[in-house]
Amino acid sequence: MTLALQHPMNPDKTPEELARGRFVSGIRSLILNDLAGDLKTAYDKRAAPAFKKREGREPASSRDAHMALRGDPAFNIYSAMRVQAQKMVWASVGDSVAREGDKLAAEAAKVSNQPGSVTLNPDLEVPRNVSAIDVHLMPGSYTRGEDSLEAGAIYDRGLAVFSMGLMGANLDDIGLSMAKYIALRYPDFKPQRILDTGCTIGHNTLPWKQTYPDAEVIAIDAAPGGLVYGSARAKMAGVGSALPADVRRQPRFPRRQLRSGVEQHVPARAVEEDPRRRICRGVPRAQARRAAAAHGTAAQWRNERL
Ligand SMILES: C[S@@+](CC[C@H](N)C(=O)[O-])C[C@H]1O[C@@H](n2cnc3c(N)ncnc32)[C@H](O)[C@@H]1O
Repeated sequence: MTLALQHPMNPDKTPEELARGRFVSGIRSLILNDLAGDLKTAYDKRAAPAFKKREGREPASSRDAHMALRGDPAFNIYSAMRVQAQKMVWASVGDSVAREGDKLAAEAAKVSNQPGSVTLNPDLEVPRNVSAIDVHLMPGSYTRGEDSLEAGAIYDRGLAVFSMGLMGANLDDIGLSMAKYIALRYPDFKPQRILDTGCTIGHNTLPWKQTYPDAEVIAIDAAPGGLVYGSARAKMAGVGSALPADVRRQPRFPRRQLRSGVEQHVPARAVEEDPRRRICRGVPRAQARRAAAAHGTAAQWRNERL
């Protein structure tokens, strides 16, 4: 089921767009449930025995399993359909975003006086891992439309189709789960500042502010459009002060002021591999790790690599 966004930037869909979104959510469900099930059968019955015959041993790693499955018809169908469905996710929302530019701007303007702010650094060189490829096959990547609302709207609306309702009503289940876990696991932990590195549109940042309303929550990202959209989205959710500060200007915090760092779905290599391209100059990430070591309270989620 395609999720309806719970804020005023939710699209006014035509019947065709509604049907398209439902179809794409449905086909993703088929791929991730039925075809993934076929993949397991294909692995057990064909791919793993063939690998053992060829290599003289059982597959011992995920790479072995991948190599064993490559070329199997079930794997080919699953992979091809996943790629096509991913492209269809963004295609299903592109028209409404193109049509509703004025509506998006008007809704954002209505909340512009609410608490919270966004600061962009026009001199920042966006790292190539963000700008040079279509991340998630999203046309134009996170930098689409530069600092307009376009990239954020595509991401938000696309994620609503992609998630099939499984990422929570506000696409914030990851942030909610992590923040609640930390709050329950460390009841005495009262962070003053929380930094979310690579927040995109801040959908998983807001739960941290909701869980720790007294903390200053700062979200940064290399791509400007998502931040502009995310700031408006946060204000619409009544937690605009969750995104109060510079979101691109390489913030530096005195060591003892940053007690909690959040990395959710941020490519692990992005900051570390090429010092010339990194937005954060390694500081927030390093500080988050130091905070984790010192206080045991930093939540880190790094499961995506480009
Ligand atoms: C998959 S999104 C993460 C979304 C969000 N954290 C969540 O939990 O859903 C990855 C984000 O990391 C940002 N990013 C990638 N490399 C970066 C870098 N070197 N510095 C800052 N942001 C970066 C991208 O622009 C993108 O918005």
